[in-house]
Amino acid sequence: MPISAAGRLEREQRVIGKNESAAPAEVFPELTRDVIARMADAESTRLHEIMEIAIRHLHAIVREANLTQGEWSQAIDFLTRAGKMCSDNRQEFILLSDILGISMLVDAVDNVAGPGISDSTVLGPFYAGPQRELAQGESILLRGEASEPLEMSGRITDPEGKPIAGALIEVWQTAPNQLYDVQDTDQPQGHLRASFRSDGAGAYRFRTIIPVSYPIPDDGPAGQLLKAMGRHPFRPAHVHFMISAPGFRTLVTHLFFEGDEFLGSDAVFGVKPSLIVRPELRGGINTVEHDFGLARETHAGSTRPPGFVAANNKRPSG
Ligand code: BEZ
Ligand code: FE
Repeated sequence: MPISAAGRLEREQRVIGKNESAAPAEVFPELTRDVIARMADAESTRLHEIMEIAIRHLHAIVREANLTQGEWSQAIDFLTRAGKMCSDNRQEFILLSDILGISMLVDAVDNVAGPGISDSTVLGPFYAGPQRELAQGESILLRGEASEPLEMSGRITDPEGKPIAGALIEVWQTAPNQLYDVQDTDQPQGHLRASFRSDGAGAYRFRTIIPVSYPIPDDGPAGQLLKAMGRHPFRPAHVHFMISAPGFRTLVTHLFFEGDEFLGSDAVFGVKPSLIVRPELRGGINTVEHDFGLARETHAGSTRPPGFVAANNKRPSG
């Protein structure tokens, strides 16, 4: 529900009132300096650098927002509930990072972009680790679904457009009931996810179904925050891709579908124009042909292994 005009006015008056008595930027500056100074023996210069920035910004939030004790308790309670929500198959902090745009910002800061290199986007919490490898052209379904069939194909190339043979192409998507297999005990494990290898011409091809838009898990603190911020939890329909090959950075991305009502309001800000495709009817089958360009690995460890493997292929019990 939108904040009322009266509520906004009261909040503004409270902030203005406090600002008159003490300019927030000037409240207790020696505390911030002291907290930072005590890191002189930090274990690494990088940790020191990041913690110094974090402390400066966290203290600035408290000053700028004129945070009350009650509001800080609420924040601590919120984070405690988020932590308690986490398990082998639920990662509430990834959801929070996603809905606040942090995952996409880290992606923008850490990724290599440029000509011949495909755009990346969020990994999300439903990558489930190594998955069965299928031959070119096979279907990723483990049971029939009453959905439009879709064939996806294209080439994996280096930044100069030369084919990369033997690249690992991992794909996953939701079922028509808006759930991934790892969220749904009724689906066969591995349904709508599989891996393929590009052939000598860098080509890949597989069969699936047109995906549907779906809500991210919103039954926990991340969902409550979304609601409180007046936002919906939906993601536009997409198919996830993770593409890796020796000597190249792992590309984590999706393909979205033109016309989806949530393209402009993705709950996790993952949509990029270059990732929106329009299926074409070929021989009566919806077909998407899309090439992916991989960035060269510039230094050892510059690839991006997944940070969290949903469920470690375990499924929720009960
Ligand atoms: C997903 O696309 O699977 C996803 C991404 C971020 C949060 C939740 C789900
Ligand atoms: Fe997804």
